[in-house]
Amino acid sequence: MAIVEVDRADEQLQAQAHVWKYIFNFINSMALKCAVDLGIPDVIHGHDRPVTLTELATALSIPAVKKDCLRRLMRLLGHNGFFVRQTNRDGEEEYLLTPSSKLLVKENPINLLGFMEEEINPVFVSTWHYFGEWFKTTEQRLFKMAHGVSLWEYNSQHPEMNAVFNEGMASDARFLMNIVVRKCPEVYQGLKSLVDVGGGTGTAARTIAEAFPHVKCSVYDLPHVIATLPKNDIIEGIGGSMFESIPPTHAVHLKWVLHDWSDEECLTILKNCKESIPSREEGGKVIILDMVVEEKKDDPDSTEAQLLFDVLVMLDVGGKERTEQEWKKLFKDAGFSDYKIKSVLGVRSLIEVYP
Ligand SMILES: C[S@@+](CC[C@H](N)C(=O)[O-])C[C@H]1O[C@@H](n2cnc3c(N)ncnc32)[C@H](O)[C@@H]1O
Repeated sequence: MAIVEVDRADEQLQAQAHVWKYIFNFINSMALKCAVDLGIPDVIHGHDRPVTLTELATALSIPAVKKDCLRRLMRLLGHNGFFVRQTNRDGEEEYLLTPSSKLLVKENPINLLGFMEEEINPVFVSTWHYFGEWFKTTEQRLFKMAHGVSLWEYNSQHPEMNAVFNEGMASDARFLMNIVVRKCPEVYQGLKSLVDVGGGTGTAARTIAEAFPHVKCSVYDLPHVIATLPKNDIIEGIGGSMFESIPPTHAVHLKWVLHDWSDEECLTILKNCKESIPSREEGGKVIILDMVVEEKKDDPDSTEAQLLFDVLVMLDVGGKERTEQEWKKLFKDAGFSDYKIKSVLGVRSLIEVYP
């Protein structure tokens, strides 16, 4: 018996490291947020050569007693792929940005800062303590259990959270749409008009309108979101609910909308989309930007990001990230004839759905 225990010791110790990694994973999120709050990526970006620990501590006005704490923060973030760490000729540690931390530089117009600010926000993070309890109730949304109202109601009642949420979405739209218009121009080229349904403050619609000036672009969202749009915009803002109806258009655009809703709710939205567009022969289509879940063994980062996001939307809004089979069923049940998936956008895909 004792021998069996000894044999299993290595396995148990390895397993302990694995469990600890996940117990403390929240520190990875918080350490990244801390680096952004301090402006570490900005300081490194502002230098045309690697930044030493001393230069970094000075630029951030870190007291001398915390200089070694900064080194240890940089060691963790370096290990996680956010900074390159190297030792210079004088034996001092110095740092460079990686492709990931370049997306966290304020000066870079295409950054993920608004999205990070929104997602690692106490209003969202505090809800996770109810996760286990939530499973034993019939409530679909953890957010509602924690805050008493749905996320959309909460945003309409809290202008500061509405602003943080909308900027989070806009930051993602700036990032993704900039890539979409370059990688998939053929999707938008022949269109006369497009309504971005659930398009938030219009960042995606504006990017499409700028890249394809012949397409008349509008954004359709809840009235409290449309109320925040600037005046004299190149896009038209229309307030309303996609569950009631969708304004007539050549193409409907749905970026990061359907993953917020159950299959039944998606069917209502998709049927309303179908009513608002012309036939396939006349070029009518629905353009969806969302995930197509694939458990790829050779791309663990993308798979993990998709699975995490699936749990996030399951809890925040009662939604889900879908596999191709799940999308296919939805399109068929909503009366569409065909679809085409373009898997060229990393974690997400572009799906064209035809009436
Ligand atoms: C996850 S956000 C996506 C925003 C934007 N499409 C983007 O990707 O940046 C979902 C959007 O759906 C909007 N929304 C929620 N309920 C809606 C409804 N009933 N009708 C129209 N829009 C709605 C929200 O206000 C929010 O802007």
